Amino acid sequence: MNQLLQCNTIQKKYSQSSILKGVTFSLGKGEHFTVVGPSGCGKTTLLRCLAGLESIDGGDIILNGKSLAKVKPEDRSIVLMFQDALLFPHLTVVENVTYGLKRIKITKKDRIRQAEEMLEKVKLIKWKNAYPHELSGGQKQRVSLARALVLKPDLLLLDEPFSSLDATLRESLRGEVKELLKQEIISSLFITHDRDEAIEMADRLAVMNNGEFIQMGLPYDVVTKPSCLESAMIIGEGLALDEGFIPLHELILVKQNETIEPNFISIPGKITAVTVKNNHRYYRVSWDKGTVLVPSINQLQQGEMANIKADRRAIRKYLQNEEHRRKVQ
Ligand SMILES: Nc1ncnc2c1ncn2[C@@H]1O[C@H](COP(=O)(O)OP(=O)(O)O)[C@@H](O)[C@H]1O
Ligand SMILES: [Mg+2]
Repeated sequence: MNQLLQCNTIQKKYSQSSILKGVTFSLGKGEHFTVVGPSGCGKTTLLRCLAGLESIDGGDIILNGKSLAKVKPEDRSIVLMFQDALLFPHLTVVENVTYGLKRIKITKKDRIRQAEEMLEKVKLIKWKNAYPHELSGGQKQRVSLARALVLKPDLLLLDEPFSSLDATLRESLRGEVKELLKQEIISSLFITHDRDEAIEMADRLAVMNNGEFIQMGLPYDVVTKPSCLESAMIIGEGLALDEGFIPLHELILVKQNETIEPNFISIPGKITAVTVKNNHRYYRVSWDKGTVLVPSINQLQQGEMANIKADRRAIRKYLQNEEHRRKVQ
């Protein structure tokens, strides 16, 4: 895959505090890269630096082989899609989409044609003459997507664009957006604090914490083999112990008085909720260091104490911090 973007040790400070502490990664042409991390870890700041809305205090951003150090935001082939649709309330849907095309020297007729083609793709053509207040939240985000894609940027940055939508809509939009980006051959950098969203949207993903990428890889590898405790707590699907990670499919919840075989570990916890996932009964268990969803064949009750059980051999040791930091680079 040809390289589109290369970020070398990007640093950003606000007053004295270091927000980005040397972020390094690259993105291939046509690739969909996701960054997942808790609120406040620096995700939006990273996107704002890439879009040129913030200056950087160190490092370099290279797009298509050229440094962006002196390139103005409007001259970068990068578009940022925000958490809120931010449409012009006094303009119709089609006028909102053509707005950005005014900078490009094409006729009004062509602008409208391109906008309508894009509205067709995001399934909003029937609404082209509506005003933003007549649209639902999901429709507004579709307009905002059409407005970004019609510019045909090399890179689309998405800042938690579905976070204000309800769960079902969010899930269906994920697939649609990824499909559309692939069709239009536009690379994307998607940031979110939602692990499911991160996994679904990513060809490759990075886990971010406290201004740094702490792990990078294919979604399946990162989720099943977190490289450190922090990463396990952010993205791992399973039990994040100090000494290693146990994937969800290795865990089982048993009654408090059940005998535990010697080669098994047992961690006490309290059942805080009972749910059904993939047609199986799962229990949300609150233990010493957090909460985890665990399957069980036993009928257990909310509020009951129980033990999370797993074979010791299922513990996947974390890579040493130093070693995995070198790998992340
Ligand atoms: N313009 C700003 N001035 C000062 N501090 C800021 C500014 N923007 C963000 N921050 C701080 O930078 C940190 C990271 O913020 P942000 O990038 O928005 O995180 P995220 O998007 O991961 O939630 C936060 O502690 C936030 O308070
Ligand atoms: Mg943010």
